Amino acid sequence: MRILVAGATGVVGHPLVGALRARGHQVSALVREESRTRAPEADTIVVADALDREALLAAVSEARPEVVVHQMSALRVMFDNPPDAFTRTARLRTEGTANLIAAARAAGARRLVAQSISFASAPTGDPVVDEDAPLWVDAPDPGWAATVRAVADLEAQVLGASPELSGAVLRYGSLYGPGTSYARTGASAQWVLAGKVPLPEGGTGVTSFLHVEDAVGAAAAAVESEATGVFHITDDEPAPAAQWLPHYAQALEAPEPPTIPAASAPRLLGWFMAHQLTAAAGASNARAGKELGWKPLRPSWRHGLGEE
Ligand SMILES: NC(=O)c1ccc[n+]([C@@H]2O[C@H](COP(=O)([O-])OP(=O)(O)OC[C@H]3O[C@@H](n4cnc5c(N)ncnc54)[C@H](OP(=O)(O)O)[C@@H]3O)[C@@H](O)[C@H]2O)c1
Repeated sequence: MRILVAGATGVVGHPLVGALRARGHQVSALVREESRTRAPEADTIVVADALDREALLAAVSEARPEVVVHQMSALRVMFDNPPDAFTRTARLRTEGTANLIAAARAAGARRLVAQSISFASAPTGDPVVDEDAPLWVDAPDPGWAATVRAVADLEAQVLGASPELSGAVLRYGSLYGPGTSYARTGASAQWVLAGKVPLPEGGTGVTSFLHVEDAVGAAAAAVESEATGVFHITDDEPAPAAQWLPHYAQALEAPEPPTIPAASAPRLLGWFMAHQLTAAAGASNARAGKELGWKPLRPSWRHGLGEE
């Protein structure tokens, strides 16, 4: 198949181009002019900024893809400038997605596979939720509510694009492995090594992790499937913070995270991280197993988190 990967220099997009080519597909990598030097080896390189609609239309029609994969975000700048990362990523999710859909349709593509996140669901009281749990568009933190509204917008656009363009949304769990913030050189690791991530008492917030290799495998499975809808792409072991944070610190040979009263977590950690460590729900991957035929090769974060 002819496939276009948007976000082809990214932590998932870059290895995805190679994985799709290894499966016999003809792959075009969409990159921005300033990132050309970091482009992966691909059958063709097409150049455009996704926020420049005309340039994107031209680049995508040059590639003539049957399937378009959206792996674009600006989350890489998260630890340098979180507000900027969130604002730019929200714009990519709303405007960038709209431009990519217009370009995919104009080029005659028949399928669109897009990256989303598995940790945007509203708390239901259950420790693990499926894809039917509502997105937390009215979260109490205005920044997170805006992020989730952009996620909801992306998902609605992808699923409602047009009858000719079938859509699959992959809600990735918290990514770990090479190039991610949980990698030994990544920002999360640096915080834990510096002893800056304490464990709020109880540590009951649940995280669903996902190794980058599995994010790539799931994207390839979704490209080759006809299944439509929203899929949690997460490992098989949603983990309370009380389990994964001490394990991660130990794997990094970092100091053991000190325990703090849960009530002081928002003040010490910020709303988002406090929520993740005290109250967030994990995500069940059962639907992806059934409908995409995808299973994680790394079923548990216990094998690899903090080790590479
Ligand atoms: N589920 C999760 O936990 C989750 C989900 C997503 C990301 N993350 C974290 O966020 C970090 C980044 O991961 P990621 O794969 O989302 O992002 P990434 O590795 O930064 O890749 C994003 C891709 O989008 C491209 N892009 C950005 N703005 C663009 C624009 N205006 N037009 C066209 N392309 C554009 C980037 O290209 P350039 O190279 O030109 O910037 C890059 O190829 C990782 O540390 C990852 O762990 C986590």
